[in-house]
Amino acid sequence: MERTFLMVKPDGVQRGLIGRIISRFEDKGFTLVACKVVQVTENQAKIHYAEHDGKDFFLNLVNFITSGPVVAMVWEGDDIIALSRVVNGKTNVNEAQPGSIRGDFAAHTPKNLIHGSDSPESSKREIANFFEDHELVKYDKTISSWI
Ligand code: GTP
Ligand code: MG
Repeated sequence: MERTFLMVKPDGVQRGLIGRIISRFEDKGFTLVACKVVQVTENQAKIHYAEHDGKDFFLNLVNFITSGPVVAMVWEGDDIIALSRVVNGKTNVNEAQPGSIRGDFAAHTPKNLIHGSDSPESSKREIANFFEDHELVKYDKTISSWI
């Protein structure tokens, strides 16, 4: 079982899409193991986007992600890192397919509503940046063998 860090970005919160975005992951059969509304600090944002440090859009990224509250979440599921990125859709909203979160709801890159970890290493770093170990709840759903 794999874990990933998913975050409704400030545009998703402001647009009232929290519930609909969370539904996409529940519909897919993933399990929510931690969730909170957070105002991201500048320091946290820089850790979160460490892989983009030095790129010309890095400061814009930090400004955007700290511009309002986000919903930080940890989800669990088989191959969830890759699968949840399919649910999210392509980074560039012009390429995001209908049926994906970005394809259905996002109209202007980089306001693309949702973040998902891109590797097990990123997932570990991103989860630790937002959650203490004891905040992650371990439980089984009886339906899991049917998914
Ligand atoms: P995240 O799940 O948000 O990490 O998106 P991603 O993994 O699909 O894309 P990536 O990690 O490459 O980029 C992180 C975020 O930076 C994207 O979601 C965009 O919001 C933004 N971004 C990426 N490339 C560019 C760019 O060329 N210009 C600008 N302004 N923003 C960018
Ligand atoms: Mg990324």
